[in-house]
Amino acid sequence: MTDGTIPVILDVDPGVDDAVALAAALGEPSLSIEAITTLAGNVGVEMTTANTLAILDWLGAPEIPVHRGASRPLIRTPHDATYFHGSDGLGESGFAVSTRALAADRGPAAIVRHAMARPGQITLVCLGPLTNLAIALNVVPWLPELLRSVVVMGGAFERGGNVTPFAEFNVFADPEAAAQVFGAPFPDITVVGLDVTERVAIDRPGWERLRDSRGGAAELVYRMARRSFAERGVEVFALHDPLAVAVAARPDLVTTTGGRVDVALGEAERGKTTLRVGGETKVALEVNVTAFGEWFQAALGLDDTVTRAAPV
Ligand code: BDR
Ligand code: CA
Repeated sequence: MTDGTIPVILDVDPGVDDAVALAAALGEPSLSIEAITTLAGNVGVEMTTANTLAILDWLGAPEIPVHRGASRPLIRTPHDATYFHGSDGLGESGFAVSTRALAADRGPAAIVRHAMARPGQITLVCLGPLTNLAIALNVVPWLPELLRSVVVMGGAFERGGNVTPFAEFNVFADPEAAAQVFGAPFPDITVVGLDVTERVAIDRPGWERLRDSRGGAAELVYRMARRSFAERGVEVFALHDPLAVAVAARPDLVTTTGGRVDVALGEAERGKTTLRVGGETKVALEVNVTAFGEWFQAALGLDDTVTRAAPV
């Protein structure tokens, strides 16, 4: 862009960490959010869309077009993640219903329209199952050459999954979509999977330091992590989706290995991702945890660093 910012589309399924990622993207000065597309993932698409609008309200965000997207995976039975994100997808935190209007066209159409309007300029950051992008690819197979870059939160390579011993949620939820996306010739695609996202986390002391925050991103982070710490009794809240947003702005935060990503489609290992030799896909296998923590604190305007390196 002429002002030097990177125009991005965020593809989201809020989702507690998607909500934090939205806040981080809004607070990162090098990113300019052109549109947000939603889809079914952590909860159904009606709810992920309503949650997106509610979060934008909470953060006092400017008008950004929000496009409802896919209501279900390409061919699989929907599999949600309410066990982690709560029945409302936002940790049962009770945000006010937004009165913002939805944009007219649907998620995949919006991705195509923006990419065609600004060929080679848009960065697409996918924080949910890859259904919207797969649909867009099926409509416009030359979409890869129209996008500047794609960052995907998904997959698990050198560590196990978080849904099954093999599979990470976003890939497990729609493995056929993931296979199509990872098989497409994007000139610049980075896959940010559990190998790195489970390394960056808010720990309990960090979360407790946010307890007295009122309003804005700090209170949002506190509320999004509350269910994990207060009800589920875990000691870390992994920042999966925020790390993918960080990589869109600061690719130097991760170290990547190039290759081709295969997705298992059989039931036994459904959604397992394997990095093969030969290919241009960049898979993040290392993260600079300290630098990410500093980025996160600045993007969200927090008084303290609240992250720590989670155990390998
Ligand atoms: C991913 O799955 C979802 O539950 C999170 O929002 C994140 O995008 C992590 O596996
Ligand atoms: Ca997500």
